Amino acid sequence: MTKEAKLHSNVIITNHIVDEVNKLLKQYENRSIFVFTDINTTNFCLPILSDLFKDHSISFFEMQPGEDNKALSTVVEMWNFLGENGADRKSLVIQIGGGLLTDIGGFAASTFKRGMDFVNIPTTLLSQVDASVGGKTGFNYNGLKNEIGVIRQPNLVIIDPIFLKTLEKEHLISGYGEMIKHGFIFDKSHLNVLLNQKIEQTNQEELAGLIRRSIEIKDHFVHIDPNEKGIRKALNFGHTIGHALESLFIAHHSHPQHGYAVAWGIISELYLSNIKFGLSLDVVEEYSTQIINIFGKPPVEIDDSHFEQLLRWIAKDKKNDGKKINFTLLSEVGEFAINQGASQEEIIASLHFLIKKIKESNEI
Ligand SMILES: NC(=O)c1ccc[n+]([C@@H]2O[C@H](COP(=O)([O-])OP(=O)(O)OC[C@H]3O[C@@H](n4cnc5c(N)ncnc54)[C@H](O)[C@@H]3O)[C@@H](O)[C@H]2O)c1
Ligand SMILES: [Zn+2]
Repeated sequence: MTKEAKLHSNVIITNHIVDEVNKLLKQYENRSIFVFTDINTTNFCLPILSDLFKDHSISFFEMQPGEDNKALSTVVEMWNFLGENGADRKSLVIQIGGGLLTDIGGFAASTFKRGMDFVNIPTTLLSQVDASVGGKTGFNYNGLKNEIGVIRQPNLVIIDPIFLKTLEKEHLISGYGEMIKHGFIFDKSHLNVLLNQKIEQTNQEELAGLIRRSIEIKDHFVHIDPNEKGIRKALNFGHTIGHALESLFIAHHSHPQHGYAVAWGIISELYLSNIKFGLSLDVVEEYSTQIINIFGKPPVEIDDSHFEQLLRWIAKDKKNDGKKINFTLLSEVGEFAINQGASQEEIIASLHFLIKKIKESNEI
């Protein structure tokens, strides 16, 4: 039986983006409208809407892509642009881009004149299934990711998988990492559908359905626990070890997209779920093989010499409670428990399991 998860946030998932944006522009007739893009979404995404935008007086702001530009200097550029082009509290910002643009532009719009309306049109799979709900906005500061920000819900989110056609494959697969996580914690059939097909070959209507299900699941947790005091931590499945792996890759000057690290983290955390909760080892083996088949091997060959540093990163994870390391683990696929501790030996065993699965994939 499919567990119910209703959509609470103001999100439209459509295969008719032009019609939906047309409705939006009518609602904001006689107000000044600003469109934020980055260089790539100007090239690949804006043309889908440009006929519509031609009939309106719109000011366009374009930022450079890349995490280095998720910075205060870009926020200042956005504020200046809004000010110089006569934005007021009744104006609307339409953001067309990935999670980076919607995070930073959402912050600029939320703070300009104490907050103006903004609508997100997320154009990467990760931003459609993850960043689009929850209302987190912000930018990197002092070398720390998302250090400054506010939580503010966009007035509307409009999602159309049509934008994904031009997305690079590694960005597509990265979003997939978060989607399978949604399946693991909440919906086994969603997980199995995802694992048994190739995302790049899925048709637009089907893709819209899968995106909808993932958003429903994320929104279910965000709605009950917006400030991540309890059940929202379910969404951290795969992330405690995943974030430590991400730090390891960065230290080796390699930076696979976030969703890959989450997928490899899920393999270790599935094994921990076996040790701590008796999740069947056959199930752990089977799903881990499928994950490696989709996400491939990590860019750094992980071995025993990395364990000490990985344990240190895991111990420093934001999600910990004082000294206690907190995992979200599964008793079955679709059934989770938050705030689960694990000993160093158990964590090392779960890393050994990940290494074993990587070795097995080398042998095929
Ligand atoms: N607010 C949240 O809850 C939340 C959740 C997850 C991630 N994030 C943030 O999102 C960011 C990562 O987002 P992302 O993975 O979407 O990356 P991104 O926004 O950096 O986009 C990835 C790349 O794809 C390009 N691009 C975007 N759409 C495209 C399209 N349709 N066709 C071709 N190219 C396109 C971008 O220009 C960029 O180069 C991080 O900064 C992260 O902190 C926020
Ligand atoms: Zn994530």
